[in-house]
Amino acid sequence: MLYNSVDLVMTDIDPINGTDTDIDSSLKRVTAPVSNTSWHLEEMSEMGEALFCKWVELVELRTGIRISEMRKSFLLSKLSIRMREIKIDDYQQYFDVVNDKRCGQVEWETLVDRLTVHETRFWRDESIFQLIEKEYIEKNNLLNNNRLDLQVWSVGCATGEEPYSLAVWFEHYCTMNNIDNRQGIHATDISLAALATAREGLYPQSRLTNIPEHYLNYYFTKKNKDKYKINDNLKERVCFTKLNLMDVDSFPFSDFDIIVCQNVMIYFDQELRIKLLNAFADYLKVGGILILGAGEMLGWNHPKMESLNFQSTLAFQRAYE
Ligand SMILES: C[S@@+](CC[C@H](N)C(=O)[O-])C[C@H]1O[C@@H](n2cnc3c(N)ncnc32)[C@H](O)[C@@H]1O
Repeated sequence: MLYNSVDLVMTDIDPINGTDTDIDSSLKRVTAPVSNTSWHLEEMSEMGEALFCKWVELVELRTGIRISEMRKSFLLSKLSIRMREIKIDDYQQYFDVVNDKRCGQVEWETLVDRLTVHETRFWRDESIFQLIEKEYIEKNNLLNNNRLDLQVWSVGCATGEEPYSLAVWFEHYCTMNNIDNRQGIHATDISLAALATAREGLYPQSRLTNIPEHYLNYYFTKKNKDKYKINDNLKERVCFTKLNLMDVDSFPFSDFDIIVCQNVMIYFDQELRIKLLNAFADYLKVGGILILGAGEMLGWNHPKMESLNFQSTLAFQRAYE
């Protein structure tokens, strides 16, 4: 049978519980028969229940991401696309490749990029800027210092839109208030490919539509017909580093003023979410703020943290030592 291949469209979905119509319909498109093509894709071997469980365990152990039975089609499509690229047609054989002690790590780095969802955009959640201004800068009278000296951590930064949005907002805010911007951002993610895109800081115009025009004009440079690059002075404020949240305690920095972790927790089970939030609490300085995506964590209590009620945001403040 002849097949045609198209890129999968990924959206933020809950991989633990969610059914994902985009991926499922894309999968159908990937395997939809077409005529008049002069090539074909090899059929993959079957993946039995026991092997599926082994893959699920491996992915969860290494990334924290739980793939439910309902999302088996997601796993199969991601694995099979990669396996076709390296000409393997057996899921067990590929499992052995990524577990190979000598060279499995290199293949795993590629696969992990395929298994993670990097859906993101500039200015994704504007309310966090107001939260930072009202609940942190103004309440701590930071404008009186004539300089803004904040350390920010963007956790699960994907291709850079979140940390660059923060960098742009801070720069503009300081300019408007005539104060010296000394703010720096650590941005981390598990995907090396996403981090490479982020470090480049070059985005097609279609990915910049959310940014208010004056920010685009001031803080980006048009590179060609439809690409814009974040200006170097802002790019230099953001340090992109690989960090797997399964090793969150290995992150060698501390005393953050602000930690932003949005649309990342949804991939993890409750136990891991709690472990991560407890770790973030320790990474904040007293008074520091943890900002999550709305609805991403319910029922979390921590002796050092207090909940912040600000518009529709989900945020906590480290109130105690
Ligand atoms: C949907 S994106 C969110 C991007 C951005 N925070 C936003 O809200 O626009 C989720 C990101 O979490 C990252 N991620 C998933 N599991 C991770 C892990 N175990 N450690 C670090 N990053 C992880 C993915 O690679 C992906 O880039």
